[in-house]
Order: sequence, then C-alpha cells, then structure tokens
Amino acid sequence: MSNAAAALTETELPKPSGLEGVIAASTALSHVYGEEGRLVYRGYDIHELAGQATFEEVAFLLWVGHLPAASELAEFSAKLDENRGLPEEAVTILRQLPAETPPMDALRTGISSLGPLLPGVFNEDPDQDEAIALAARFPSVLAAFHRVRSGQDPIAHKSGHNTAQSYLYQLFGNEPEERHWKPLDTYLTLLTDHGMNASTFAARVIASTQSDIVSALTGAIGALKGPLHGGAPSLVLDMLNEIGGADNVDSWLTAALDRGDRLMGFGHRVYKAEDPRAEILREMARTASDPDFFELSFKTEERALALLNERKPGRKLYTNVEFYSAAVLAAVRLPGDMFTPTFSVARSVGWSAHVLEQAANNRLIRPQSEFVGPTDKMFEPVGRR
Ligand code: ACO
Repeated sequence: MSNAAAALTETELPKPSGLEGVIAASTALSHVYGEEGRLVYRGYDIHELAGQATFEEVAFLLWVGHLPAASELAEFSAKLDENRGLPEEAVTILRQLPAETPPMDALRTGISSLGPLLPGVFNEDPDQDEAIALAARFPSVLAAFHRVRSGQDPIAHKSGHNTAQSYLYQLFGNEPEERHWKPLDTYLTLLTDHGMNASTFAARVIASTQSDIVSALTGAIGALKGPLHGGAPSLVLDMLNEIGGADNVDSWLTAALDRGDRLMGFGHRVYKAEDPRAEILREMARTASDPDFFELSFKTEERALALLNERKPGRKLYTNVEFYSAAVLAAVRLPGDMFTPTFSVARSVGWSAHVLEQAANNRLIRPQSEFVGPTDKMFEPVGRR
C-alpha cells in the first residue's frame, strides 16, 4: 500500500467497481490511451507495427525491449523453432480429454502439464528462456488437441515456419498459403499485449506470489476465456450466423437489446473511442474474408453502433477488437471455437513479458476488501443448529 493509501482508514479507501481506474502496476510494455483510441507497444503506435512488423519481431520487442536486428531475429526465430515440440506425455493427456472439450480448456490443461513434463525448464525465478519455452508451445498444444479431437494424429512442427505458419501447418497438415498466414500474423501482432487487461492482471497477481510462469499463464488462460474478455469472437460469429442476412439485422439486434443482452464485439472498459485494432481488422476483413460475410458484418456493426448510441447515450460504446476478429479468423480457416485460443497464442507473449516485468521489481499484489457481512454471530455446536 502506498503511504497515501496507508494513511486512509479502511472505510475511506477507494473501491471503484471492477477496479475501474485503479493503477495496479507500472509497466513499460504497452498502454491503452482510451480517450484517444491509441495502443502503444514499447513506444510504437500499433499502426506503426501492424502489417509491417512480424509477430516474432513484436515478441522480441516486448520480451527484450527493442526491435531485433536481422541477426537477432534469426537467432530468436531459431530459438522459437527449437521450443515448439511437445513431450509425448502432453499429447497423451490431450488425447484423454473428451473430444467435445472446449479448446480453451484443453489449452489450459496442456499448458499446465508442461511444467512437470519439461523437467528443469521452469523454476520459481522466471526468465526469457522460460517465456520462450512456454509461449512457443501454445500453437502446438492447440493444433495437437484440434487434430486428436477430429480423429487425426498430431503433426510435428516444421522448422523455418514463423508462428502463424507453424500454427496453420500443425493444424491442417499442409503448407499454409500466404493469403492465410499473413493475416493471421498481423492478427497476432495486434493482440500481443494490451495494458492491464484482466488476464494480464491475473498473470501478474500469480507472478507476484513468486509462483512459476507456467502457473501464471495457466491462470491467465482461465481469465481470458470469459466472454467479457477474450471469449467474445466465437459469440460474434454465432450472432452473425443467427442474423443470417442483411434484412434481419435490425430486428435481431433490437430484440437482443430489448431482452437486455450485450452485443458481442462492442464496448470496452478503457476505450472511449474506436479500438484501433478494430479499425485495422475491419480493413483486413474487407480484403481477406468472404464478401457476403464482410457485408453482413459491416451492416451489423453500423446498426449496432446506431442502436447502442440511441439506447446508451453518453456510454461511448464502439466496436472492439473481437468484432472483426471473427471475420479475419474465419477467413484464415479457423473454426469458431479456436478463435479465443488463437487470441491466447498472441497474448502468451504479453502475459509472459508481464510476468518477467513483475518478477524483476516484485511486490506481492494483495488488495483490501470491503467487508459487508455481520461480525457478531455466536458459535452453536452442530447438534444444536
Ligand atoms: N452491448 C450492450 N450494452 C453494453 C455493451 C454491449 N456490448 N457494453 C456495455 N454496455 C452497456 C452496459 O449495459 C452498461 O449500461 P448501463 O450503465 O445503462 O447498465 C454500460 O454500457 C456500461 O457497461 P459496463 O458493464 O459498466 O462496462 P464495463 O467497462 O464493465 O464492460 C465490457 C466492458 C465487458 C467489454 C462490455 O462492454 C461488454 O460486455 N461487451 C460485450 C462483450 C465483449 O465484446 N467482450 C470483449 C471485450 S474486448 C477484450 O477483452 C479483448
């Protein structure tokens, strides 16, 4: 607790709902400028990086602190290559999960298993090698699970592939086309980090107890899964499929809002202007996705923004990153239930960078709660209750 906070009595401590506006950590990794609709990674505006820097360059930027020189990038890419393989026992664990297991649950289990299955790799003092050892295996765990749940054998990664290529190759078993891996690569750079979002906060809380990086990222996967955070894009796909055609947009959205439902892919805790990632993804979807699907997405977005503005005036509800993620990820042939797991492939880098940053300057994260229960109850032995 800061000295200023320590000077306040418990009842005077601020308690914003959902910790809104609370600064929970200092970070030099990324920041969301909500009023301006800007996202910055280590000093670079996301518009500078998107479509120009590869996901590997962005990962190096976050983990190491600067954009890599060519020789650094080659060495780094080779290191990622060396770390993509899964222990056979991890594949056995994935095989034992029911085929209908949501891929986020399989990812959580698969990543958690890597702690004991890669002995000597992870300890309680995480470093960059550990971050690489874990993040490089996210695509492999997901692809292996996707294949075994569809009755196919996992495919070993191929060296020389970047992360987007490796993921698609391990999923589908053929050389990915540039029109698929390129948009995926850009998507991954857009989603790599995002200030003190809920899953990153979860990872930092776990790291702050001096727990290990595998535990921190396993917890973060659990936090990302919910629809108020990373779980929305497949629900966006469901929404668009249910709407089905342009004629149905208005009545579907009106009925959903009349029921009090939230429209998936809209609104954000921090952005009070358009999410810059949504703007970039919209343009990617315009070229990468099926024209009819893009048209439906665009019409739905236009009408949703108008209705939200009418019904929640002053709330500043805009399109968030998840809305056009659905069109972009569908265009690269990923099934809807792999959308959020694919988000976590990107965010594994941000989470691990935050774990390292937390560990480098750690203090246990332990906030206070406001107690609202009674304090004067007397014990009754079990037979007298
Ligand atoms: N649809 C309808 N109404 C909405 C939406 C939405 N998508 N988002 C916010 N609102 C309304 C709320 O009902 C509330 O109205 P009220 O005050 O009249 O009751 C007001 O706007 C403020 O909402 P809060 O819940 O206080 O906003 P909060 O900052 O807590 O939530 C969140 C942000 C969770 C993203 C929210 O906008 C939401 O539920 N969106 C839909 C789910 C979604 O798209 N999730 C992905 C988020 S992006 C990411 O994490 C990567």
